[in-house]
Amino acid sequence: TLLDVVVNNDLNIEGYGACEGTLTCSTCHVVLKDEDYKRLPEEPCDEERDMLDLAYGLTDTSRLGCQIT
Ligand code: FES
Repeated sequence: TLLDVVVNNDLNIEGYGACEGTLTCSTCHVVLKDEDYKRLPEEPCDEERDMLDLAYGLTDTSRLGCQIT
């Protein structure tokens, strides 16, 4: 996942991925370019949508990084 990329590369993004990918936070929120959003193989599941609703600055191309593979 995108969260794995952040963790495995020791990227220092304060607070990113607080729940470690268990879909209980929205700290891994990312806003993708429209063309990148459309290239993702899957739509967000209901659980991801519920957490996205809590994300600051939600957009039509928002996703949770822990769900992007
Ligand atoms: Fe918490 Fe993605 S890391 S929802």
